Amino acid sequence: MTAAVTRDYSIIGAESDRAAERGLANGQWFQANIDPARLRELMERTNGRAGVDALIWVVLIVVAAVIAWNVRATWWAIPAFLVYGGLVGGSSDARWHECGHGTAFRTAWLNDLVYYPASFMIAREPTYWRWSHFRHHTDTIVVGRDPEIIFPRPPSYGGVALAFSNIVGGPKLMAGTVRHALLGVDAVVTEIVPEREWSKVVREARVMVALWVGVLVLAGITASIWPVLFIGGPTIYGAWMMVFFGVTQHAGLREDVLDHRFSTRTVTMNPLFRFLYLNMNYHVEHHMFPAVPYRSLPALHNEIADQLPDPSPSTWAAYREIFHAIGRQAVDPTWEIDRRVPEVQAASGQIVQAFEWRGEDSWLDVGEDVAPGELRPITVGNSERVIARTESGVLCALARRCTHGDADLAQGLVIGEEIECPKHNGRFLLATGEPTRRPILEPAQTYSVRSSSGRIQMEVEEA
Ligand code: FES
Repeated sequence: MTAAVTRDYSIIGAESDRAAERGLANGQWFQANIDPARLRELMERTNGRAGVDALIWVVLIVVAAVIAWNVRATWWAIPAFLVYGGLVGGSSDARWHECGHGTAFRTAWLNDLVYYPASFMIAREPTYWRWSHFRHHTDTIVVGRDPEIIFPRPPSYGGVALAFSNIVGGPKLMAGTVRHALLGVDAVVTEIVPEREWSKVVREARVMVALWVGVLVLAGITASIWPVLFIGGPTIYGAWMMVFFGVTQHAGLREDVLDHRFSTRTVTMNPLFRFLYLNMNYHVEHHMFPAVPYRSLPALHNEIADQLPDPSPSTWAAYREIFHAIGRQAVDPTWEIDRRVPEVQAASGQIVQAFEWRGEDSWLDVGEDVAPGELRPITVGNSERVIARTESGVLCALARRCTHGDADLAQGLVIGEEIECPKHNGRFLLATGEPTRRPILEPAQTYSVRSSSGRIQMEVEEA
């Protein structure tokens, strides 16, 4: 029997530096090959589908609440509250997640309209958890870097049962919020969240705590448990639905590998599960291309399925695999599920035209004009740039590398007057390079461009 090795899963512990030394922090991840034009199609956002899905979700919650209230004095209250709680404290997680990425709705404020209430329903401080999730995507299941590893090894069946009931995790989460509200940010927040957002974290924690206190006061005044069961309580007793889906994402799979095909699980699920979970069962696809909205993940799966391991054929099959892994890892934490991953040639990358400025004229011809929404990478000397036309037709050029995490903006998406980064869905205003969406905080360098007779010229200054 192998002796159990306990690793430090804290993101402020020794493993964090070790991961960085091993090149696992903000690393270069495998990406499947896909035609860029098709990928851009899949990345397109609409408000319609997300609006209908959000409306159905709200109606389900209201109906479940009405039923739970009406049967509250009977034994039917138990299943009724489990369903209501599951919808509020569980299915909100998928809405929180998709709207946090900004990919559910095309219109930015509609994503926020869902993101903030959903954050409250699952007791996640909106700004802190937004940054936590950016880190999860940067360093997925890298020990010491990813703050969202649900089951540190060695796992146990008891730990899984506790996660489903959330009687430990829920109060712990809420206690963290109370701490931020009363004492300010702690070491974990300062590790993940940039300093300029710390005051926002504290403000939001105070608002959440005030709302919880309000519910408790109401419960006291009415001498009844019902206010707590309807508001706040679902974070604990309803989390089972979030855990039920969330466990399938990474449990038992490889840690510390820069290829989501080894660390992440795609599961074939029925339409009801896919609605509640917003298609996050296509989890490998989501991690590989986070700018693709949930509604397009099945289509993305079809495009790249031959480059991925076979999905788990059902939720039950995924759980069988996970329970087997828990049993093995409880004894030997280094044991990991072995994935059969197809051999794939690395993506050949986009063709990038290179231009040299020879100093005769400050305006350099950099090729044919681009259509609205099009992104064209070029290099001018050593400088990597991307030329774009906004949807309203304004011609722009900016530095090709994202100022947040060095991702390639030429693989991003033009939305209105902005460009969205493909890695964490941050955005810049194309005309000015000003950041408009987290996690981007630093502006992008912009360049002067003009078009004439179907050609583009870029102003080049002597270095
Ligand atoms: S690399 Fe993070 S938003 Fe661009």
